[in-house]
Amino acid sequence: MDIGIVGAGAMGSGIAQVASTAGHKVFLFDTRREALDLSESKLKKVLARLVEKEKISEDKATSIAGNIQYVESLETFGNCGLVIEAIIENLDVKKQVFKNLEGIVPSDCILASNTSSLSIASIAASVEKSERVIGIHFFNPAPLMPLVEIIPAVQSAEEIVLKARSIIDSWKKVTVLAKDTPGFIVNRVARPFYGEAIRIMEEGVADVPTIDWAMKEIGGFRMGPFELTDFIGHDVNFVVTETVFKEFFYDPRYKPSFSQKRLMEAGRLGRKSGHGFYDYTEGAINPEPVMDKELGRQIVDRVVAMLINEAADALFLNIATAKDLDLAMTKGVNYPKGLLQWANDWGIENVYNTLKDLYDTYCEDRYRPSPMLKRMMRNGETFSI
Ligand SMILES: NC(=O)c1ccc[n+]([C@@H]2O[C@H](COP(=O)([O-])OP(=O)(O)OC[C@H]3O[C@@H](n4cnc5c(N)ncnc54)[C@H](O)[C@@H]3O)[C@@H](O)[C@H]2O)c1
Repeated sequence: MDIGIVGAGAMGSGIAQVASTAGHKVFLFDTRREALDLSESKLKKVLARLVEKEKISEDKATSIAGNIQYVESLETFGNCGLVIEAIIENLDVKKQVFKNLEGIVPSDCILASNTSSLSIASIAASVEKSERVIGIHFFNPAPLMPLVEIIPAVQSAEEIVLKARSIIDSWKKVTVLAKDTPGFIVNRVARPFYGEAIRIMEEGVADVPTIDWAMKEIGGFRMGPFELTDFIGHDVNFVVTETVFKEFFYDPRYKPSFSQKRLMEAGRLGRKSGHGFYDYTEGAINPEPVMDKELGRQIVDRVVAMLINEAADALFLNIATAKDLDLAMTKGVNYPKGLLQWANDWGIENVYNTLKDLYDTYCEDRYRPSPMLKRMMRNGETFSI
């Protein structure tokens, strides 16, 4: 089956590499010739490195590169069985692209969007056969991150969902099914990892390096929240937080922080600008963490309880199954274990009491425990994953 990819940026290029590695002929389209050239030269470098490290043979590298055609016209998509759109995050522009595609691709071609924050239903509404539209959400970098969220719109036909999932499974990805709601699974459930860590810092409970130390050393996360947001970029991370907040009709649970907004406004975008929560300029000295185990435990318990609360509430609202919720966080953002498994191991009662303490202390809706946790605690249940 031929695959069409619209947008040759970070995501489109990565997805094209994944599809061509799986043996498909890929048409990669962008409105900018420079984007196509850059994508092609970057892929060459990546493939050369993979050959050097003996991860793939020379022949395989040649076939991966040879499978991709860098095209300047959508008309080349005439035989595609699946098109994945990965252009800028703008609903009107995406809608126009889908409309154009409909007039070119075969009638049974699946039309997918890699959007992180827009509703799939709104994109699907732009075409006549909206039942063939679906969300297929990869993580960055697409060739390395195993997770892909499959998001049916209210309009998507059941057979399209099954077919799309089986294609992506055949690309050796881990697929999970998510409801078409803001942030899908990962970008919704992960919000407190950043938000609660920043809140703890703002309250003066601990400073940036101490919170990062605690989350890594005691929590087992690969990166601390501040290191990670500096790495992602505050412009990108703040916009996701703000979008999720707005899309949830301003639920205080997802409220963005002023600390991060100010960093963004100041141009302290993180690693890429040389300064974020940390200073990356040459010779800069950043403060050392306070390695107090008791304080570290308090920090981890508070952030993890909030993360578990999100996962439990997503299950409560049928956003995804328990299995998919745990897979999403381990395979999409490398959490040391699934959050529902974490709740079982820690004890539902302990999770609930940690949240209830926070709720009673702050009297803020942000800390309201999910009804699911309360019910499970009362019934002495654990999550079946
Ligand atoms: N970057 C991430 O971490 C990430 C992760 C998952 C999903 N996404 C989503 O993937 C999509 C792309 O993100 P990205 O980071 O690759 O962006 P990017 O800015 O790296 O690339 C976007 C590309 O789309 C091209 N483009 C813009 N308008 C176009 C049009 N009308 N037709 C064809 N090409 C057009 C641009 O020239 C550019 O090359 C967005 O919807 C984003 O929300 C991003």
